Parts: sequence; structure tokens; C-alpha cells
Amino acid sequence: MRKLKISLSALLMLILVSMFGAFASAEGFSTTPSTNPAEGIYVGDVDNFGNKNTHKTHGNFQNNTNSCANCHSTHNGENEFLLMKSGEHELCMSCHDGTMGFYNVTKASEAGVIDSHEQSASMHNVDSDLAVSAAPGALANKSTATFGCSSCHNPHGSANDRLLSETVAGKTYANTYNVTIVGYAETITKTPLPVGNKAIKLNLVNDPEFDAINNATGLSGLKITKSSGIYNAEIPGVVTKAEMYNYKLNYSEFCSACHDDYLKNREYEARADGHYTHTTSSTKAGRSCTACHYAHGTDITLLRDTAGKTIADLQKTVEQGGKGWTEDVAREYMKDVSKNGSALKRFTNMAVCWACHQSTHAIANTPGTSTYPGPKIPGGDYSGKAIIK
Ligand code: HEC
Ligand code: HEC
Ligand code: HEC
Ligand code: HEC
Ligand code: HEC
Ligand code: HEC
Repeated sequence: MRKLKISLSALLMLILVSMFGAFASAEGFSTTPSTNPAEGIYVGDVDNFGNKNTHKTHGNFQNNTNSCANCHSTHNGENEFLLMKSGEHELCMSCHDGTMGFYNVTKASEAGVIDSHEQSASMHNVDSDLAVSAAPGALANKSTATFGCSSCHNPHGSANDRLLSETVAGKTYANTYNVTIVGYAETITKTPLPVGNKAIKLNLVNDPEFDAINNATGLSGLKITKSSGIYNAEIPGVVTKAEMYNYKLNYSEFCSACHDDYLKNREYEARADGHYTHTTSSTKAGRSCTACHYAHGTDITLLRDTAGKTIADLQKTVEQGGKGWTEDVAREYMKDVSKNGSALKRFTNMAVCWACHQSTHAIANTPGTSTYPGPKIPGGDYSGKAIIK
């Protein structure tokens, strides 16, 4: 109910914005009134063809654009990029903190969560002066740029979904792959993909919570989608197997533009520093970065156990598929006890490993694994493997 209310108010906001624009157009430049929940979102509402059409904030800029003014001030910028807010984090969050009703990055999405103060929280630290080259596994990545939202996203538009930058840490990371799988063996060769081509396509679907916006006429620049992350299988008419391989492998290349020494196939090579990493450069499930990690961050409300359950699931009754636990018990059980914290993980602790090495490459002769003939572990449930991409 609450969410519906938010989506309607977001629509109302956009209608108000365009009405205000229409009334005020004779007087020239106008901004969203300060009473508006997203002050400054005014972007323009007539397109290059003379059609009534709310402009996008990010990219697809029209000949009469005002979108730049949402983020830049010509003479009164707060930094050398002429940004309206003192920091980039503050700038992006001025709209993406829930004010708009949609794309609230402080709430759970397929990207995880940002700015969480929950138990077991860990996030990409985009609110400090860290250098992009502070990324663990940075080797070729020598970028001295400050790590922020725009290290990963291009606020001006991108060929990739979710505005994911085509050049990251100075590297154009994307490739076209030739993948041959014979039995278990996988052979992959790659050729660089020039900028301007879609390298990362995500499984984005219409978000029914925002049907009011998505079905409205005159807002054709704006569709609110919900992400289900990377494709893990071909979908007839949507993605072919070859495309799925490309998008998936490029997504790991994207993370590894910064964490370059982590992109390896364990069977063929060690990392440059002599360590070994779990395979991350394969088309197979569980071997791309976002199979195990969120891009933004995680916390106790998102972490899962081997059964794929969250603390909310565990608090449900047994009939509803839960365990009927109190919130306290659920949190105690799910908390990440790792020395180095929860590291943006989708599963708590090392649960992802135990969920998978039950059946896929099962640990040899180990009680509790699906290939072991002896008694099962009481309460053992490894169905979370099904959601590892
Ligand atoms: C959603 C916010 C946003 C909008 C809208 C936006 N910018 Fe930017 N712009 C930024 C940020 C953030 C940076 C700093 C990027 C960085 O740190 O590399 C930037 C950097 C720039 C730069 C210098 C670096 C570069 O990427 O080349 C130029 C030039 C620029 N913007 C022009 C524009 C123009 C022109 C428009 C309108 C057509 C516009 N921007 C719209 C956020 C925005
Ligand atoms: C003035 C408000 C505003 C600011 C500031 C802003 N955004 Fe947005 N953002 C929007 C709106 C509105 C949308 C919906 C799509 C559109 O209009 O382009 C959006 C969509 C997005 C999307 C999803 C794009 C898609 O279509 O899948 C990403 C990613 C994003 N913003 C990142 C950023 C980043 C990073 C910054 C800071 C550099 C930023 N935004 C600053 C208003 C804003
Ligand atoms: C633009 C550079 C950049 C990209 C791209 C990038 N990272 Fe990072 N990452 C960093 C930096 C810098 C740090 C160290 C600072 C921090 O923890 O935020 C880091 C830290 C991490 C950590 C450790 C966090 C912790 O709590 O110890 C994980 C896990 C991680 N990144 C995963 C990913 C994944 C998965 C992706 C792809 C979705 C990705 N990174 C893409 C720069 C990047
Ligand atoms: C390490 C790279 C990285 C950084 C840093 C980063 N993002 Fe993202 N962001 C992503 C990726 C990857 C996705 C797409 C996740 C998916 O759907 O699989 C995403 C998704 C999003 C979305 C869409 C969320 C949704 O509802 O589906 C928004 C909005 C967004 N980011 C804004 C931001 C803002 C604002 C910041 C800074 C506070 C930021 N991002 C920092 C990589 C990053
Ligand atoms: C989606 C399934 C999956 C997940 C999740 C997974 N693995 Fe693996 N792992 C495999 C497969 C398949 C192999 C063998 C082929 C390869 O290296 O890609 C493997 C290889 C290994 C090996 C080398 C085994 C050998 O016989 O040489 C070790 C050790 C290992 N994984 C540990 C882990 C740990 C620790 C985690 C958790 C961080 C983990 N795995 C998560 C599927 C998975
Ligand atoms: C099979 C699951 C899995 C995959 C795939 C995976 N990670 Fe991790 N990652 C983990 C786990 C579990 C931890 C924390 C525990 C540990 O350090 O053993 C971790 C920790 C990290 C850290 C924190 C520093 C460190 O070395 O402990 C970074 C950075 C990181 N991962 C980046 C990446 C990147 C980048 C990729 C893709 C190239 C990736 N991960 C793929 C499971 C995975």
C-alpha cells in the first residue's frame, strides 16, 4: 500500500512538473517548485520532434535540454566539475535516496544496498576520498580518480543498461567472446568490443509498482524497470546463448576493470601476485562476480543461508515456509562473522560455497553432501543453489 502511494505521488510529481513547465514556458526558464519532493528534477517536456515528452535526466538529451541543470551550475559549481552539490555522493543521493519514489538505492534491489547502517553491512565506499586504485586486486588499475558513483555509472548515458560506464578506471573493458563447451571443458577466446556497443544487458522487466508512470502518455522518456541481474540462461526471443555469454562475461570484466587480478580461471592460471582465486571468468553458474556479490553492498536483511532464506523468510511460520523464529534468533543466525566483514556478499559467511559444493563438484566423501551415501545433516537444506547465477 505504502509503495503504491509512493508511485502515485511520483507520477503526480511528474505531472505537476510538466504542468508547471507548460504554464511557465512563456516566462522562459523554470524549475520545479521548492515544495516539490524532488526539487530541481525539471528537465523539459517537448522533444526534438515537437512532441510532448518528458525528458530523461540521464542522457538522450534533446536540442532544448535543461537536464544538465539538475547536476551542474555554470558559474556556481561546488567543485571543478561544476557540480551542484559538494560531493558526487551527495549529488546522486539528492534524488536516489527515495525522494523520487523509484530507484531508491538505500532500499534493496538487485544492486544490493547503499548507505545501510544495519548489522553486517558492507558497501562499496563511495562516500570518501578513496582512489579507484584502492580496489583489492588492482594491478593494471592505476587510476588516481576518486572512487564515486560515476566510477561505475555514466550520468550522461551509456550503451549499457543501468548507465554502466563503457570505460571504467580508464579501461574499455568489454569484449565479444567465442565460447566452446565440450563436455565439461570450456574454451573462451575474446576480441575487444569498441565503445558504443551494448556490453552489459541486464534482465530488466517492467516494474508493476510503477505502472502508473510506465503507462502514462507523454512520459515516453521514462520507464521504471526492475532488475533481475545477469542472464544465466538463454531466453528465446530475448537473449540467445551467445549473447548471454557475452553479457555475463562482460559483467565480470566490468568489476575487474578495477579488481583486475581477481579475473582468472583457477584451473589455468594463478593471480599475478602468486595467489589463486576461485574461477571468476567462466560462463558457468557461480563463477562471475555478481553470482556471489552485490554491486552496491549488503546487510543482514539481504544475506541468505544455504537454503536461500533471508531473516524475513526465517521469521515466517513453518506453514509459510519459514522457521517461525523471532527476529533476534534470525539475526543471530544470519550475522556475518567473517574477520573481514560481509564483503558485499549475497550469502552470509561462506554459505554460498557449501550450497554449491554439495552437488556441483561435490566435496569428496563428505557427510552431508548429496553424493554421500550416509545419513544427511539434520536440518540441512541447500536449495539456495538454485538462485546462484
Ligand atoms: C545526473 C547528473 C548529471 C547530469 C544530468 C549531467 N551531468 Fe555532467 N557530470 C556529472 C558528474 C557527476 C560529472 C563528474 C564525472 C566525473 O567525476 O568523471 C560530470 C562531468 C561532466 C563533464 C566533464 C567530464 C566528462 O565526463 O567529460 C562535462 C563536460 C559535463 N559533465 C557536461 C554535462 C552536460 C553538457 C550535461 C547536459 C547535457 C550534463 N553534463 C548533465 C553529472 C551530471
Ligand atoms: C535530479 C535528480 C537526479 C539526480 C541528481 C541523479 N539522478 Fe539518476 N535518475 C533520475 C531519474 C529521474 C531517473 C529515471 C531515468 C531518467 O530520467 O533518465 C534516474 C535513473 C538512474 C539510473 C537507472 C537508469 C536506467 O534507466 O536503468 C541510474 C543507474 C542512476 N540514475 C544513477 C545516478 C547517478 C550515478 C547519479 C549521480 C551522478 C544520479 N543518478 C543522479 C534522477 C536523478
Ligand atoms: C571503479 C572501480 C571499481 C569497480 C568497477 C568495482 N569495484 Fe569493488 N572495490 C573498489 C574499491 C576502490 C574498493 C575498496 C574500497 C571499498 O571497500 O569500497 C572495492 C572493494 C570491493 C570489495 C570488498 C569490500 C569489503 O567490504 O571488503 C568487494 C567484495 C568488491 N569491491 C566487489 C566488486 C564487484 C562484485 C564489482 C562488480 C559489480 C566491483 N567490485 C566493481 C573499486 C571498484
Ligand atoms: C562498483 C560499481 C558501482 C558503484 C560504485 C555504484 N553503482 Fe549503482 N549499480 C551498479 C551496478 C552493476 C548496477 C546494476 C545491478 C543489477 O541490476 O544487476 C547498479 C544499479 C544502480 C541503480 C538501479 C537500482 C535499481 O533499482 O535497479 C541505481 C539507481 C544506481 N545504481 C545508482 C547508484 C548511485 C547513486 C551510486 C553512488 C551512491 C552508485 N550507483 C554506485 C554499480 C555501481
Ligand atoms: C555455483 C557453484 C559454486 C560455488 C558457489 C562455489 N564453487 Fe567452488 N567450484 C565450483 C566448480 C564447478 C569448481 C571446479 C571448476 C572450476 O574451478 O571452475 C570449483 C572449484 C573449487 C575448488 C577447487 C576444487 C578442485 O577440485 O580442484 C575449491 C577449493 C572451491 N571451488 C572452493 C569454493 C569456495 C571456498 C567457495 C565459496 C567462496 C566456492 N567454491 C563456491 C563451483 C562452485
Ligand atoms: C564463488 C563466489 C565468489 C565469486 C564468484 C567472487 N567472489 Fe569475491 N568473495 C567471495 C567471498 C566468500 C569473499 C569473502 C571471504 C573470503 O575472503 O574468502 C569474497 C571477497 C572478495 C573481496 C574482498 C577482498 C578479499 O580478497 O577477500 C573482493 C574485493 C572480491 N571478493 C571481489 C570479487 C570480484 C571482483 C569477483 C569477480 C572477478 C569476485 N569477487 C567473485 C565470494 C566470491
